[in-house]
Order: sequence, then structure tokens, then C-alpha cells
Amino acid sequence: MSSPDLGFTTLEHERLLDELPLRGELPPWLTGSLLRTGPAKFEVGEQRMRHWFDGLAMLHRFTIAGGRVSYGNRFLESRSYRAAQERGKIAYSEFATDPCRSLFKRVQTLFSPELSDNANVNVGKLGERFVAMTETPLAVEFDGHTLAAAEVRPYRVPGHLSTAHPHMDRASGSMLNYAAKLGASSQYRFFSLAPHDGETRVLASLPVKEPAYMHSFGLTERWLVLAEFPLVVNPLALALSGRPYIENFRWKPERGTRFTLVDRRTGEATGPFETDACFAFHHVNAYDSGGEVVVDLCAYRDARIIEDLYLERLFAGKPVASPALTRFRLSIAKRTVSSQQLSDGDVELPRINYCRCNERPYRYVWGTGSGPSGWIERVVKVDTTNGATLSWSQPHCYAGEPVFVARPDAGGEDEGVLLSVVLDAARESSFLLVLDAGDLSEIARAEVPHHIPFGFHGQFAAAPPTA
Ligand code: CO
Repeated sequence: MSSPDLGFTTLEHERLLDELPLRGELPPWLTGSLLRTGPAKFEVGEQRMRHWFDGLAMLHRFTIAGGRVSYGNRFLESRSYRAAQERGKIAYSEFATDPCRSLFKRVQTLFSPELSDNANVNVGKLGERFVAMTETPLAVEFDGHTLAAAEVRPYRVPGHLSTAHPHMDRASGSMLNYAAKLGASSQYRFFSLAPHDGETRVLASLPVKEPAYMHSFGLTERWLVLAEFPLVVNPLALALSGRPYIENFRWKPERGTRFTLVDRRTGEATGPFETDACFAFHHVNAYDSGGEVVVDLCAYRDARIIEDLYLERLFAGKPVASPALTRFRLSIAKRTVSSQQLSDGDVELPRINYCRCNERPYRYVWGTGSGPSGWIERVVKVDTTNGATLSWSQPHCYAGEPVFVARPDAGGEDEGVLLSVVLDAARESSFLLVLDAGDLSEIARAEVPHHIPFGFHGQFAAAPPTA
């Protein structure tokens, strides 16, 4: 098998392995755990998930210590997962799969805590707790070593929808996030979660008639950055339509893309800044630059990418839209937006040197790039100052999000390593790839005895979890 299909195929094995076979030599300073989540189970009983984003979540842990790599994987024991196991059928509504048939159940689902906690999008750390996140207000806490889930402790998220891409507030250590409150009068809200007690504080509320689908948001030292793409939903239709969640959103390109800036101190909004229609899942970074705000996105021409990721289409080998790394400059005084493509190739699943550069001027973006198959085959590095792009690839291999880890004594922004989970379709198994983040040369790889379905996001926790 050399197509990417294996990456959308269920992995049933759960393993804890003390040492993975290693090629190459790991840098002695590299100590900690890469924790990742992603969909890993695409059918329950007779039912099949319809979309890549629907698969039941599995956690993966690669722990690096003393030049060795141990590994563990375990299904995230969410309420959704447990219910699916017990009932032998899909129990909660997912992104594009909806098991509810009756109208009554639909309404009940949207406005009650029956939301899915199938946290297959990202992992984060709130204080000392690891949490797996999706786009509902439900995060699942888990043990960073055994990957066992603790009870679902709902965040007190002030809304019905949220993102799995929070930012960290440098001053307070709080998690900053966005939520949409849906109802007769809907609102976009920014809020912070305190690191230790999870106390919620709403920073800003902006009224909105038809909320846009938003997967992430931007942050500068001064502003929270909202990018509303014209993929919008009528909240009442969402409650009543009977269609799966994402299929209630409508593409309305005539609305264009609207940026709104929210002052982090006062909560006051400035905008909208309007430009042509586009769509993005991921903000890369943003920063203040004189009278401008620079906002970098992995931008698609439209929202077709969501349709491209239905499993039936993926297995049929249909083409998948690819995003361009695009810089938007918002002039605060003139209320104008200009845009510019930063690289010739496509970039998705972007990462930067967050510790040093998040919300600040920066130079390098790492991410994934497509290859001849049309699917993600490469790890790429883009120099945003001149578009120069480096890439790593290997035949029949499909790369995952490259997570940057800085060398402790690093001088330059790109001094460190990248960790990427790569599927080798020819060997029908995956490996953890360790690249030099500067020149993308291979340092080492640790081989896993099974395939790891394509995941989305993960984080490196520098302190190794205690066994
Ligand atoms: Co994402």
C-alpha cells in the first residue's frame, strides 16, 4: 500500500512500549514527551464516520529521555467513546456525523450538555493538568504518562462552540480562547481560563447574527484577532435542520473576510477590516507593527477543503485543496487590508517557535506541504522574510504536524528540532521523525510497530511525566 488511505484507517491496538527501535542519535538535551491526539476509530458497530474530523480520539505519547524513546497509545476515554463502546453505535453528534434522528433530540442536543467530548483536535496544559480538546466546551483531562482519562471536567466556557487552539497569556499563564454563544441573540466571546482553578473571565462579547466557523484566532501583544470567513451559520437552523453540525454552515463569499481586533486590556473592538473571501483553519502568528497589525494565515480560496475531507472522497483519491501561507496587513488608521502570499508552496498544520515568537515579529514557519499524491507528504520550513522554503520528504511517507522544540541554549529562532509523526505507507507503520529545525536534515527516527492514523495537533511537554 502506498496511498495515504492507511492514515484514515482504524487503529485498534493500544500499547505501552518501553523502547522503540531508534535510527540515529537523539540530542542529549532533548527530554520530555510529545503528546498528540487524533481520530483513530472510524466505525462503531455497523456505522461509519463520514468525515476525517469525526473519528474517535486516540492519544499518543512519545517520551524521550536518555537518548531513548518510549511510546504509548490509548483511546481517549471520553463520554463519547465510552457510550460508543457500551452501545455499539455512535452516540454523540460529531463534526459531520450525526446519529440523532429525531428533531426533538436535535434541539435537546444543541442546547444541553449532550455535546460530544471526542477531543481529537489538540492537547494543551492548564496549570499542571493535561487536557485533550475539541471544538465543544468539553475538554477531557488525562494522565500525561498512562494517557488514562480523568473525569470530564467541563471548562466553564461561556458559549456553545469554542476552539482547540487557545493561546497562552504570557503575563498570567491563563489560557485565552474564543467561544460562540448561540441563541436568539448570538455573540462571539473571548475569555480567559486561570491556570489553577479554571476560573473563567469573559474579556469581550461581540454581537453577531450568523456566526462564522472559526478553528483558531490570532494574538498580538495588544490585540485578540478574530478572522471571520464567510462560512456562516444561522443558529436556529443549526438547532432545527437535522443535518450534521458543519453541514449547516453556508458559504457566502459576497460577505468577504472580516477581521476584528479586540483590545486585550479593555475588551473594546476595532473593525471590521474587510477583504476578499477566503477560508482558513489556522492562524500562524500575528503581531503589531507600527500602525499595522500583521496576521498570517494558512488561507484557502474557499471552504471546499471541508468537503474534500469526507472519508468517501479521500478513499476515492479525489483532489484536496491546498492552502497558501498568506500575510494580511491591517492598517488601523485606514481600516484597510492588504494581502501577500509568503511562499510558493502550500503550508498547513503550521507551527512556530511559540515560546519566543508568539504574538511578536518572527521569521520562520514550519508545517506540512503536499506532494505528488496531493496529500501531505512533506515537512516544510518557510522563511517569511523571503519565501525561501526547505522541505523533507521520503517516498510513500506522509508527514504530520512538525512540533518545534528549542535547544536550551538556542541563539537563533530556528535552533532546535522538529518532531513529526510520519506514516510510512510502504511499511504500513509510522515513526517519530526528529529533524534539525534549521536545515530539515534528519537526526533520528523511532519506529512504531503499527500505523498511526493521521492526527491533527500535539504539544511537547519539556518536563518528563513521572512514571
Ligand atoms: Co487545528
